Amino acid sequence: MSGRLHVAGGTVVTPTGEVQADVVAEDGRIVAIQEPGRPTTADERVDASGLLVFPGFIDPHVHSRDPGITDKEDFAHSTEAALASGLTTIFEMPNAVPPVTSAAIFDERVTHHEAVASVDFGLWGQAIGDENLDDLADLVGRGAVGIKLFWGYALDRETKRLVYTAGDVDPDQLIQPPDIGGVRRIVERIAGAGGLFSAHCEESGIIAAAEAALPDGIRDYADLLAARPSVAEVVAVSAATEFARETGCRLHIVHVSARRTVELLRVAQAEGVDVTGEACAHYLVLDDRDVERIGPGMKVYPPIRTADDREALWDGLDDGTLSIVASDHAPHAPEDKALPLGVQPAGIQGIETLVPLLLDRMVAGRLSPSRVAAVLSANAARRFRVDHRKGAVAVGRDADLTIVDPDRDWRIDPANLHTKHPVSIFAGFEGRGAAVASVLRGRLAMRDGDPVGDPAGRFVAARPGANA
Ligand code: DOR
Ligand code: ZN
Repeated sequence: MSGRLHVAGGTVVTPTGEVQADVVAEDGRIVAIQEPGRPTTADERVDASGLLVFPGFIDPHVHSRDPGITDKEDFAHSTEAALASGLTTIFEMPNAVPPVTSAAIFDERVTHHEAVASVDFGLWGQAIGDENLDDLADLVGRGAVGIKLFWGYALDRETKRLVYTAGDVDPDQLIQPPDIGGVRRIVERIAGAGGLFSAHCEESGIIAAAEAALPDGIRDYADLLAARPSVAEVVAVSAATEFARETGCRLHIVHVSARRTVELLRVAQAEGVDVTGEACAHYLVLDDRDVERIGPGMKVYPPIRTADDREALWDGLDDGTLSIVASDHAPHAPEDKALPLGVQPAGIQGIETLVPLLLDRMVAGRLSPSRVAAVLSANAARRFRVDHRKGAVAVGRDADLTIVDPDRDWRIDPANLHTKHPVSIFAGFEGRGAAVASVLRGRLAMRDGDPVGDPAGRFVAARPGANA
């Protein structure tokens, strides 16, 4: 198929260090990592002199809204944007229409996405409560990277879309969220199937009460923070952590936003609970004061909190409490994101800004290249069990490489974005360090931000395995 490719003259970066080496790929896999300068009989040569060669970057948290909500985004656009920015694999969240709640829907989704994907992809399954309890083991068996619960969200009975404000909807039209006993049942099932459980952790009762206590509703960003306090996250995370502790289920906490959550995860990990934490670029780069500059479009759940929370997230990233960085790409139509803070949908675009934002912090010395290799590739591959294929520059693995120029300056110009709606809360941000080429299964797939060749992304299944 793809012949032989030789990436020459670069510095290969792994979680354990950097080494000057050439990488040779054949038929999609890495076949040699060798001293620089040795000739090969390659069909294609990529000159990586002066550049860093990372294992292909992975974004494990993407909502492409496809099928069913494609007025906001679709898989062709989100994966082209992923490719342009230097990602080679994404894991797609399950909450499209219909959500990925059964093996049959999972299979359909694989076919649907493979037709247009520009990068490789894994799929999340979704737990909705007792209605699909019996489907969870099948989803794990299909190779779902994890099972996600949108904790506390009611679903529309017909479309099974998340209902953001259930109070406005006729209860007959809703599937109510599982109560805490129902969540425990879900975790037990996933544990038994050897799967990974993940939840959007914001306790809905705390949020409802906090919102009701605001006399005039949510008028400004301080109101939003008051309505969705850290304690709502901490309470849900602690319950999930206890369920993981008792069942042995692998647990992954997405989009950690609060200092207390980092502290709680640090203790649980030290006690041996199999729990990992995810940081997202927007919580690492921004804090509540940025809303003055960015405006209400900065609204995301959980909310971007204080500078103190942000610093705690960096500490968590430094000591490994948070081991994965993701985008939580969650697009909405620009006109919806222009609505007042209290009524606009939560979620921001981020798939195309994750890599440059983190590389800029690397070039600034905030984290090492090896740590970038870990948090943007190796750790996600291992945690979500695609490490037989992804996450390392090693002989036998898929030849997925992200080639980075640490001296490349960038400026986020929405006009250059590849997403369906070319908007970003990071518009105008400037930085240094960008992916300038990438290799997907042995084929040059991106050069200077432009796709090379036709979309060639393929589904990757998580390998099976038991939980502890
Ligand atoms: O702000 C958010 N939007 N947070 C989530 O977790 C879900 C997401 C969405 O799907 O819109
Ligand atoms: Zn999300």
